[in-house]
Amino acid sequence: MTMKKGWLVINSFVKHNKFYEIYNMLLASGVKKNVELELKTTTDLLFEIGSAMEETEKPDFILFWDKDIYLAQRLEALGLPVFNSARAIELCDNKILTSMALEAAGVRIPKTVAAPKTYEGTGYSNRLFLDRAEEILGFPMVVKEAYGSFGAQVYLAKNREELYALADRIHHKPFLMQEFVSESCGRDVRVNVVGGKVIASMMRHNENDFRSNLTNGGSMKRIEITEQQAELACRACAALGLDFAGVDVLFGPEDEPIICEVNSNPHFKTTWECTGVDLSGYILEHIVNTLENRRA
Ligand SMILES: Nc1ncnc2c1ncn2[C@@H]1O[C@H](COP(=O)(O)OP(=O)(O)O)[C@@H](O)[C@H]1O
Ligand SMILES: [Mg+2]
Repeated sequence: MTMKKGWLVINSFVKHNKFYEIYNMLLASGVKKNVELELKTTTDLLFEIGSAMEETEKPDFILFWDKDIYLAQRLEALGLPVFNSARAIELCDNKILTSMALEAAGVRIPKTVAAPKTYEGTGYSNRLFLDRAEEILGFPMVVKEAYGSFGAQVYLAKNREELYALADRIHHKPFLMQEFVSESCGRDVRVNVVGGKVIASMMRHNENDFRSNLTNGGSMKRIEITEQQAELACRACAALGLDFAGVDVLFGPEDEPIICEVNSNPHFKTTWECTGVDLSGYILEHIVNTLENRRA
């Protein structure tokens, strides 16, 4: 088997240490797995792939560790295999698109209503849709911006006033409203899936917040998940076309699993700290196997 060459594509502007830890884990696994990984920023590539690229300059694959969907699409248009695919990243990045894709595939999610579109400067000049959503979802109600991570753009509206205030504050950014799965308050399971298999799972728990994200002060511990949880997480990944992902699974009534959201670029350093499992190696192995199978 020849050594595979890949570009690890990272965002040009995000400088947080948290992200560099992930890149370094991927680069270290590249060395271990005999995969040559070259770091490329989104700005580098913007111009590099603009000029005619020789076949010999092309890598065997792209490991796309960003959400720059336009760039991912351009790389795919050049015939390069991109992991995760531009479409899968797009579906995960936008929680409204995620919920629609999962619903269409019959993967259980909380009851969800997407807010209708409005425009900057216009906002919501009437609140009929909020009152209708209240009838369907009740209070407390989860409100989520379509784009967000680390729990930072996820809110709980306890009553109509809070819901109105949130809608005004979010203004023209897309958002959804969701049934609050109270059984899961402050706890959920992060299931890491690579190549259709569950690799490592953690129970996340926060006493002081309905959101279990570690960034909000949640804690985690390794767990063995149920077959039902594993199956639902894998079905969610398949529905979204993901090669690898971190799936958030809520506890519904009678512990029935419900998909909360799916992350196409999971922050797996915490998984490693908690479980000792380094997902980066699994991801690279999966990519190499996929490329080999495609060739065969
Ligand atoms: N419908 C819901 N019912 C109960 N808890 C929820 C619901 N949606 C989200 N949460 C909690 O909020 C956290 C953050 O929401 P999530 O959709 O995962 O956004 P983010 O992308 O910011 O992590 C989840 O991990 C979960 O603990
Ligand atoms: Mg989450």
